[in-house]
Amino acid sequence: MKTLTLTLFTSLLVSSLSAQVVPESMADRGTGRAAWLDEAKYGMFIHWGVYSTLANGEWVMCRTRIPVAEYREMASKFNPVKFNADEWVAVAKNAGMKYITITSKHHDGFAMFDSDASEYNIVDYTPFKRDVLQELKDACDKAGIKLGFYYSQTQDWEFPGGAGRKWDDAQKGEFRTYIDTKALPQLKEIMAYDPTHIWFDTPHAMTPELGREFESIVRAADPDCIINSRLMYHGNQVEGLKPAQLEELKDIGVDFLSYRDRTIPPKSPWEYWETCMTLNGAWGYNAKDNNWKTPEQVIMQLTEVVSKGGAFLLNIGPTAEGLIPEQAVKNLEAAGEWLKVNGEAIYGARGTIFQGEGTFITRTAAEQAALDKEALATGAGKKQKGHRQKDYAWLATGREGKLYLHFFQWPTEPFVLHGFDNDKVTGAYFLADARKSAVNIKQEGGTVTIKLPEQPLDELSTVLCLTLGVQK
Ligand code: GLC
Repeated sequence: MKTLTLTLFTSLLVSSLSAQVVPESMADRGTGRAAWLDEAKYGMFIHWGVYSTLANGEWVMCRTRIPVAEYREMASKFNPVKFNADEWVAVAKNAGMKYITITSKHHDGFAMFDSDASEYNIVDYTPFKRDVLQELKDACDKAGIKLGFYYSQTQDWEFPGGAGRKWDDAQKGEFRTYIDTKALPQLKEIMAYDPTHIWFDTPHAMTPELGREFESIVRAADPDCIINSRLMYHGNQVEGLKPAQLEELKDIGVDFLSYRDRTIPPKSPWEYWETCMTLNGAWGYNAKDNNWKTPEQVIMQLTEVVSKGGAFLLNIGPTAEGLIPEQAVKNLEAAGEWLKVNGEAIYGARGTIFQGEGTFITRTAAEQAALDKEALATGAGKKQKGHRQKDYAWLATGREGKLYLHFFQWPTEPFVLHGFDNDKVTGAYFLADARKSAVNIKQEGGTVTIKLPEQPLDELSTVLCLTLGVQK
């Protein structure tokens, strides 16, 4: 928790007089196929493949124009002997994550599972010979973690005709041949592992008809498996989608929106959505990138996403040996400790009327300049729009009958909140206080004044739970 004290802490004026602070329309959700995602809220994204060998991100083949034959040669030596599915799943579990999404085939075309459609896979093409997806599936089932697969449906730099940039004659071919002989058959193959979700990405040259072909393979294998919007639209297109396009997505069978990489959207027109984030600045393993988000940053971003009604998919990139970078494990674990105490304010929690501006910390120009300088020096916030972390003094999540105030900065004065015209605050206690001792609260009409103790209870984020009844 930062020590910066805020003298003008906050006084939020909420104009909507009819709403309860945890609106019922939000509290009532949750009957769709994707309801589990809304409950789970926090997942682990894993980018892992042959590219991990070069320790320079998952785009390295394309960015440095590695010839297909040369990359294949590297693939034939891929041997992640330290991979242990149970250990990875334990990292996710200790982090408080409820699901995993792993790359089954990224744009480099290499399959991390046993594939009949293409021998270019971890079992048939490498000395390792083990089926990574199967091992993870078994480990996830044991641990009670949901497992889904990322699949790059159109972009493929290895198979002739796959979409994407071309720099080698070996890549030339018919797109439809690629779809029929690799993409659709492999989708059928990964469905045999019984995933809870399929996470498509980079939809080049997709048409609604082709989208329906992919969708029908998923649904024929498992009617409950959920599909993200990147079947049809890139992450950066989602915020701009028109109602008719959203309708069409539903019609095609898409279940949840996947927003732009590393961006927490302002709000979403869909009940089910997810945004993905990197723990450092990279998806695939990058040896040079040690710009890890702190546990506090992880908790703040997760809380922000939940406060807006979404789910948070946080990425790690294991090494070519099969290890998750140590610092990543440490930071995730520290955030996981916080979740053990404060999880009820996150899992299955909802948005509230307290969203946006009122929670954004205002800085002097000098303070902002210092932060910008630091961000530039560390690489945070470079290139990727919206990558740099916002800093919140506090955020709110809720559920029926409860409002959770998450304090990232500790108020030095009584904390005043408006907007309780239709709620009666019946009590208040800290989630971190095992005895649930009452916290001093005063309500006058729609205004609630909270007198907080001098010190926060948790360095990462102290959560105060207000119990709510109806104001007569
Ligand atoms: C971007 C990257 C891709 C990565 C994805 C994760 O689309 O190009 O490599 O898998 O983000 O969301």
